[in-house]
Amino acid sequence: MLKCRKAKDIKNAMFSIYCGFSLLGISLLSSCAMTEEMRRINAVEAEKARKAEGQSSNLSGEQIFIRTCNTCHVGGRKGMGPALTEINEHFPTDERLKAFIRQGVGMMPPQPPEVLNDKEMNSLIVYLRELAPRVKEELADEERKAAERAKKRAEEAEAKKAARKARRR
Ligand code: HEC
Repeated sequence: MLKCRKAKDIKNAMFSIYCGFSLLGISLLSSCAMTEEMRRINAVEAEKARKAEGQSSNLSGEQIFIRTCNTCHVGGRKGMGPALTEINEHFPTDERLKAFIRQGVGMMPPQPPEVLNDKEMNSLIVYLRELAPRVKEELADEERKAAERAKKRAEEAEAKKAARKARRR
């Protein structure tokens, strides 16, 4: 009887050990599966980051402007599109200017993020903000010079006329 009990105890003990090991095995396996899943998620995230990086360029705002806008806004001046001298007044916030460029209007094509990513857009906005007053200044300067030339020509013509008159007398 005593022997029998002992055997039973041993059996029980063996069973517990067996159970313990299987539990350990299961938890080890599941933790492996967990790390595997996490590794997979990390890989997907890394791939996403790599793609976004691949899309972004290190072009400067000026280079982006030349690539995308210059055909119609030549150097920020009037071309097929209007001069960009008034954009700081027409689009007081960067958000509105960005929204306008993203959407496009009429002849002006839209610029979705696949074509112009956020990084490029930010560089472009910085460039446009300083381009506007610069072009405005240049145009005003040219106008002033043209007016001066016209005035000089008129004065010269007047002087010639006066000289002719004086000779005739
Ligand atoms: C195919 C020609 C074309 C291209 C390319 C183009 N635009 Fe335009 N853009 C226009 C035309 C036309 C208008 C006037 C639209 C209207 O008001 O109907 C305009 C208007 C604008 C205006 C509004 C000006 C104002 O003061 O109201 C801004 C700002 C502008 N363009 C910026 C850009 C930028 C930045 C790019 C490059 C990403 C670009 N455009 C590319 C043709 C173009």
